[in-house]
Amino acid sequence: MSADSVETLGEDLPLLEGIRTNRAIRRLKPDAVPIELIRKVCEAGTFAPSGGNRQPWQFVAVTDRERRAHIATLYRETFKAYIAPAIAAARDPDYPEAKRRNMKAAIYLAEHLHEAPVHLFVAGWTRRGQPQSQALFPAIQNVLLACRAVGLGASLTTAHRAHGEAIDRFLGLDPVRTPSIALIPIGWPKGRFGTPTRRSIDTCFFEDAVPEGALS
Ligand SMILES: Cc1cc2nc3c(=O)[nH]c(=O)nc-3n(C[C@H](O)[C@H](O)[C@H](O)COP(=O)(O)O)c2cc1C
Repeated sequence: MSADSVETLGEDLPLLEGIRTNRAIRRLKPDAVPIELIRKVCEAGTFAPSGGNRQPWQFVAVTDRERRAHIATLYRETFKAYIAPAIAAARDPDYPEAKRRNMKAAIYLAEHLHEAPVHLFVAGWTRRGQPQSQALFPAIQNVLLACRAVGLGASLTTAHRAHGEAIDRFLGLDPVRTPSIALIPIGWPKGRFGTPTRRSIDTCFFEDAVPEGALS
């Protein structure tokens, strides 16, 4: 992929269409992704708002195969514990199909994480000793949308946090001053982008005030 095509890729996708068709893409091809393209989607992250415009973000893109394998092993360990209750609940035949699909996709990602060609970590400076997750999530969402625009599959994960300290040190981050908040596995999608399952706006939009009983 030439520098020119990296520059033009994704520039023509209408914003609202990108937002409406940006589901979690967890099935990724192992093919390499140009690092310039990853830099481009991270640059989209840098246009996010942040408290006091402090811009606390750092982006660490891990592409080395062995390093990804190590991260995937740690991720799997914590993910297994996290997903166990959902697996147990899904034995119920009445378990909702949409939830079952989502769970299967998350399990697939955990099992194949080492194959994702890019493990993008988003980290940020802490403020008064606290991670500034609220300042990083707008940037993370921008990255996810930019991936959608350029045709890269991506999903937001946080399960690595249970091994956060070890992973941060492995990435050259200081777990106290600049902890990683999210791991975004990125690659060319195996499937297609599509409209995610979401509850209707009719159930969550109100003018002036919430009518009594509307949220019960
Ligand atoms: C704060 C946060 C943490 C998440 N952590 C994980 C995770 O660790 N692993 C994972 O597979 N998905 C994770 N997700 C992704 C959600 O499961 C996903 O966005 C949701 O199921 C909707 O998927 P869809 O866009 O395909 O409908 C996380 C999402 C958010 C917002």
